[in-house]
Amino acid sequence: MERIDKTKLPQHIAVIMDGNGRWARIHSVSRIEGHRKGSESVRDIVRTCREIGIKYLTLYAFSVENWLRPATEVRALMGLLEKFLRSELQEMQDSDIRLMAIGDIEGLSRGVKKVLREAIEKTSENKGMVLNLALSYGGRDEIVEATKRILKDSNAGKITHEDITKEIFSDYLYTSGMPDPDLLIRTSGEYRLSNFLLWQSAYTEFYFTDTLWPDFRGEKLIKAIADYQNRERRFGLTSDQS
Ligand code: IPE
Ligand code: IPE
Ligand code: MG
Repeated sequence: MERIDKTKLPQHIAVIMDGNGRWARIHSVSRIEGHRKGSESVRDIVRTCREIGIKYLTLYAFSVENWLRPATEVRALMGLLEKFLRSELQEMQDSDIRLMAIGDIEGLSRGVKKVLREAIEKTSENKGMVLNLALSYGGRDEIVEATKRILKDSNAGKITHEDITKEIFSDYLYTSGMPDPDLLIRTSGEYRLSNFLLWQSAYTEFYFTDTLWPDFRGEKLIKAIADYQNRERRFGLTSDQS
């Protein structure tokens, strides 16, 4: 197994969990079965991140665009999400994981919202790691929503245009209070962001792998982290400066 330096871990890892459908096709099973298999990878990656000491893990589970998939698939994904939240709550408590969510949470079904709110509430004091689920999430929607809320606060006299800085703007995003992702992983051989964390990934390191999400387990994550640790993050400076 690849070795990683525990003193140079990414603080925040974000993952675009892609390729469940192609995994299903290769294995001649339904797309829904592919998503079910993908939820096993979610468990494995959450556990691995917690074990090695990652502080924030953001998982892109459902995009705003994904609502346009066939209704049966959307329903199955929501069902899997609900099942995951119910079955993992105890494990999150035992391993000190705090659940958070970003996206248009109000747009989720009543059933999902209920279990999600409960899990967020019950784990709110946990300090070991934040598991942040991007649900009904869209990066552009997030920026538009932030702008609307800034205008609202401006109309209410709580903020003026001079107050607005990058930091204040960030506070109006869904990810308020969270550090930007250091490492963003996308599985399944696609090289795009698909509307994920547009603002937050300004200086994120990207890692792309052909592995399909249901096959992406702990040892593949370690490989991604090892790759990240071999990079030099310059943030616009010269190599000598950074
Ligand atoms: C990712 O797998 C899961 C979600 C987008 C919810 P896909 O369902 O996108 O899998 P592919 O891209 O069709 O293989
Ligand atoms: C991105 O995957 C969204 C999630 C993984 C939840 P998609 O499969 O929806 O992205 P595109 O359509 O290939 O860009
Ligand atoms: Mg896909």
